[in-house]
Amino acid sequence: MTDGQQARIADAQVFPLLATLHYLIRANGVIRVIETGTARGVSAACLASAVAHRSGGRVVTLDPFPHNDRLDLWADLPDRLRGCIEQRTVGSIEGLHAAIDAGERYEAALLDSVHTEENVWAEFELAAQVVCPGGLILIHDARYQHGTVDRALQRIEAAGYNVVRLWCAEGGVDEDDHLGLALIENRQR
Ligand SMILES: C[S@@+](CC[C@H](N)C(=O)[O-])C[C@H]1O[C@@H](n2cnc3c(N)ncnc32)[C@H](O)[C@@H]1O
Repeated sequence: MTDGQQARIADAQVFPLLATLHYLIRANGVIRVIETGTARGVSAACLASAVAHRSGGRVVTLDPFPHNDRLDLWADLPDRLRGCIEQRTVGSIEGLHAAIDAGERYEAALLDSVHTEENVWAEFELAAQVVCPGGLILIHDARYQHGTVDRALQRIEAAGYNVVRLWCAEGGVDEDDHLGLALIENRQR
């Protein structure tokens, strides 16, 4: 939820964000995915569940701050999942630059660190260089009321990328707490 502390589960069978993340990554045939903002390691574990069965499956996750409770979560994962998560204790911008300099390639990125226009735009520009053409760049908290991610999305659209905003419908049931997930195809129109 918006407070970053609690979760509201409307239907115990389906966690919309994690289910969506898992199947987007898996159904797009992603082998390597890079994430900004590890925090407690929940999304990294979810991403690992989508790529661990693939040869070379890897989740590289960047966060300069130690959140030691992620180790408890990851310790409970099957070896196969835990083994494909690589945590790098580095800020997202430095970490993405280093990945570019090292010639790393990914099929997807999840941006979920600092929810400001400037940071998301800076991360996006770098992610677009390490993710393959047509790969997925996902941006969490697209509607987060304490952030300015929406303005970064407008810049991304103005730069010629297609942006789809999930959980923004004006009808239906709210399945998340006005956080939202944006999907971007890494290819300019
Ligand atoms: C919303 S949380 C990430 C949640 C996580 N993806 C999950 O679903 O489990 C944002 C995290 O970004 C991290 N962060 C703050 N500044 C950062 C930076 N410059 N680079 C990367 N991560 C940063 C913080 O440590 C914070 O825990």
